[in-house]
Amino acid sequence: MQSKYFDIYANWQADPDAFWRAAAEKLDWYKPFDTVFDADQGVYGRWFVGGETNTCFNCLDRHVHQGRGSETSLIFDSAMNGARARFTFEEAVSEVQAIAAVLRNHGVGKGDRVVIYMPMIPEAVFSMLACARLGAVHSVVFGGFAAHELATRIDDCGAKVVISASCGLEPGRVVPYKPLLDHAVDMAKTKPEICLILQRDELHAPLRYEHGDVDFRHAVEVEKVNGTVVDCVPVAATDPLYILYTSGTTGQPKGVVRDNGGHMVALHWTMENVYGVKPGDVFWAASDIGWVVGHSYIVYAPLLAGNATVLFEGKPVGTPDAGTFWRVISDYDVKVLFTAPTAFRAIRRDEPEGDLVRDYDLSGLQALFLAGERADPETLKWAERVLQVPVIDHWWQTETGWPMVANPFGLGLLPFKDGSTTQPMPGYAVEVLNDEGHPVPRGTLGNIVVKLPLPPGCLVSFWNADERFRQACLTEFPGYYKTADAGVMDEEGYISVMARTDDIINCAGHRLSTGAMEEVCAMHPDVAECAVIGVADPLKGQVPCGFVVLKNRVSRDEAAIEREVVDLVRSEIGPVAAFRTVMVVKRLPKTRSGKILRGTMQKIADGMPWTMPATIDDPAILDEISSILQQRGYARAPGGIKESA
Ligand code: COA
Ligand code: AMP
Repeated sequence: MQSKYFDIYANWQADPDAFWRAAAEKLDWYKPFDTVFDADQGVYGRWFVGGETNTCFNCLDRHVHQGRGSETSLIFDSAMNGARARFTFEEAVSEVQAIAAVLRNHGVGKGDRVVIYMPMIPEAVFSMLACARLGAVHSVVFGGFAAHELATRIDDCGAKVVISASCGLEPGRVVPYKPLLDHAVDMAKTKPEICLILQRDELHAPLRYEHGDVDFRHAVEVEKVNGTVVDCVPVAATDPLYILYTSGTTGQPKGVVRDNGGHMVALHWTMENVYGVKPGDVFWAASDIGWVVGHSYIVYAPLLAGNATVLFEGKPVGTPDAGTFWRVISDYDVKVLFTAPTAFRAIRRDEPEGDLVRDYDLSGLQALFLAGERADPETLKWAERVLQVPVIDHWWQTETGWPMVANPFGLGLLPFKDGSTTQPMPGYAVEVLNDEGHPVPRGTLGNIVVKLPLPPGCLVSFWNADERFRQACLTEFPGYYKTADAGVMDEEGYISVMARTDDIINCAGHRLSTGAMEEVCAMHPDVAECAVIGVADPLKGQVPCGFVVLKNRVSRDEAAIEREVVDLVRSEIGPVAAFRTVMVVKRLPKTRSGKILRGTMQKIADGMPWTMPATIDDPAILDEISSILQQRGYARAPGGIKESA
């Protein structure tokens, strides 16, 4: 089929208001909006001003009203404990109402913040929707973060309530959440009024009733038995739906704020046009609700579009084997799968020939979408060969909430180009600029930016931090949103994303800040200064690697200090940081103005060609770092060589 992409993109360019108005008309509003886009409101303008709606209504109740109440909305599959469940739209409404009733009993209403710190279980999704139903603002915290990170988020958003579970399940271990939550609540300056705790069979947590702990299941059951009805609360289109914290360049995470109206309109549009699914189709985003992929494509977008969404607790490998993804696809007749390339690298590592595919019926699968990190061509080609469906690399980030650049399966695929994420989606006018803010010639590497205004569904600001948002994203390139990614646009407008321009790394598809890790390393009493860089990893894409310089006169065993620093990062940030390597070094390489040469260190560690920077203070230090890295097994790849400047 001839792709409709260019026509649709041109329609948007010609009249963005008409484009988004038409998209908005497919959803239900209590009160129609006055203007599609009001440039005078918010930091860069606001979408659907004057409109009133409810996201939960549009995700669930709307489908029931349209007579689709008995169709499947959520499919739950745990490869960790074998649990399976299916919920129709009608059942999902009941589940959500019961949780909303409990929240309401505890005084949660429009605008109140609720932190959700839960594993991948249906109650987590229903809790998010219960908040949306009440007009409360949820902030989901990924289970792999430790107490300090959780406390930071509770404090920053001023959470009134926390919803959590007794434990998460990781391969080979049960992860007790409650001690982490208790520690976080003790640390937080803003104490939540109550913590709703869901007890899982694998581990029962002792509840601190005196601190406001409430048994989730018991409280929810009471409301179910009573049949308590909780109607959706109309909220302004511009009211916040959620805050999702993501790594910034410091240890203080950025609270990305998403509104109700723009978010639902944009996400709804993507399901048919980008992902090519129709109401009733089964869509599976194999991610976690703690990340933006989970928010957008496990929870909101598929439900808004009337799809059945798969909630999967498990890993692509080891739970129990590298055929798990194929089992889920075949058991539930998944039409479109979305995951991070690292998941496929893991499967390929365990099962290079992909033989397990033959044990399952994957005939319903029509496409695989990849995002979250750069897709290496070998993995992409492997996935294509094994699955025999188009494999579509697309690019977006927590801030945007939905794809900036993709090959739109629903509009008809465009020709693929190796290493490229294809074309900008309607709403995004993508350009590539040099550091001075001028467009670079096609084919030249530069800063990828999006011309303002950002389309509906993108962040409206950082929580309580408009100025930080302006400074971080809008100031460097006036009139544009800075994506902090570097890339190339070719003659035909195809975009290839190459690397971050800041200190964010992508580790197993998880976004991590090396700056935040440096802050933690520096907390160790023996550490004078430190640097953390991302080094290439065949499975996870990148993993963090730390370098610490010890304070004068520290004479303790260096290996012991290294272990302590690793433990410190794990206990402060969490296991998700995947911080396993740190090296004591005598000095860090710096420019004469004192800037640590992280980029050059990274090249050395990755075995890439590197040159001695002209501005270096003491060239001998880089040679020292190079030899330490080689002793530790890095910097060995062919070409890992110092080139003459
Ligand atoms: N709760 C508690 N701990 C968690 C966790 C959670 N929700 N998620 C991860 N962790 C822990 C892991 O158990 C691991 O702990 P360990 O150091 O004791 O082994 C650590 O955090 C690092 O996790 P991860 O980087 O995910 O490594 P892994 O070896 O457990 O799994 C992959 C590697 C590739 C299989 C896995 O990361 C994966 O499937 N990724 C792709 C899909 C994805 O989720 N992408 C997200 C964005 S789309
Ligand atoms: P997150 O906010 O966690 O979704 O991470 C977003 C970042 O991941 C982006 O800014 C990119 O650096 C990277 N990323 C996401 N998708 C891609 C992709 N398809 N190709 C290259 N990098 C990507």
